[in-house]
Amino acid sequence: MKSTEPLLQVRDLRVDVGERNVLASVSLAVPPGTVHVLMGANGSGKSTLGLALAGHPRYRVASGEARFDGQDLLALTPEARARAGLFLSFQAPPDIPGVKNALFARTALNAVRESRGEAPLDAFDFLSSARTAAADLGLPEAMLNRPVNDGFSGGERKRNELLQLALLRPRLAILDEIDSGMDVDGVRAVVSLVQKLRGQGMAFLVVSHYLQMIESLEPDAVHRLDQGRIGETGGMDLARQIARTGYARSPQAAEA
Ligand SMILES: Nc1ncnc2c1ncn2[C@@H]1O[C@H](COP(=O)(O)OP(=O)(O)OP(=O)(O)O)[C@@H](O)[C@H]1O
Ligand SMILES: [Mg+2]
Repeated sequence: MKSTEPLLQVRDLRVDVGERNVLASVSLAVPPGTVHVLMGANGSGKSTLGLALAGHPRYRVASGEARFDGQDLLALTPEARARAGLFLSFQAPPDIPGVKNALFARTALNAVRESRGEAPLDAFDFLSSARTAAADLGLPEAMLNRPVNDGFSGGERKRNELLQLALLRPRLAILDEIDSGMDVDGVRAVVSLVQKLRGQGMAFLVVSHYLQMIESLEPDAVHRLDQGRIGETGGMDLARQIARTGYARSPQAAEA
């Protein structure tokens, strides 16, 4: 039986970026072992929600609350959120010139392991698990030795985000358009990794515009972000309806 106690519980979250209010009042609950999909028109605030939950300083929470496993998520620093088991894959993963990919991932992993009370991995042990994870994701091993995302193609950057996910094993992963720019094998790798980790109790909030991947994920819920709120929640039927009719709301929905 799946636990119904949410791992992430967001209530009436209001988020401002610069002078602008982007999210007016977002409420959402994601239980462990479930996949929730977040859809919404370009500019509706999907990335804003992920970045605000991860603690990006430009995305200011003006009101509302977010609880993670019963803790006040918003009171934590971004690194404490990551240690608690929150992971965000970026829509546009940045480069970090001068920082070797393997060292970056190992440092992040050891910080997370420390907070779980696990011993740190030395370079040798880390490399062996990183190589296996990279091979599973179709990421050439040489990418481990290059600076983070430096000169990586669009799809390689996305695979590198997945590599971090596979190694860090967070409790909740927010995947922001992980499928955009990925080839068919990349999308298949996303689906199989998500399904495997979901089976182990990990929760997912997946932002995507593409019906085919959403179908393969067999989501537990699909949410539509509209005008700063979760306008509608449903299942695959909602995703299919959006794919068919676009984000323009039907007159009945607009009146409701
Ligand atoms: N740093 C910023 N400075 C100014 N405006 C921003 C900033 N970040 C986001 N915004 C604005 O907030 C709104 C929501 O942006 P966001 O990136 O969250 O949308 P999105 O739903 O992820 O869209 P997409 O589907 O195109 O990725 C947009 O109008 C965007 O221009
Ligand atoms: Mg976005």
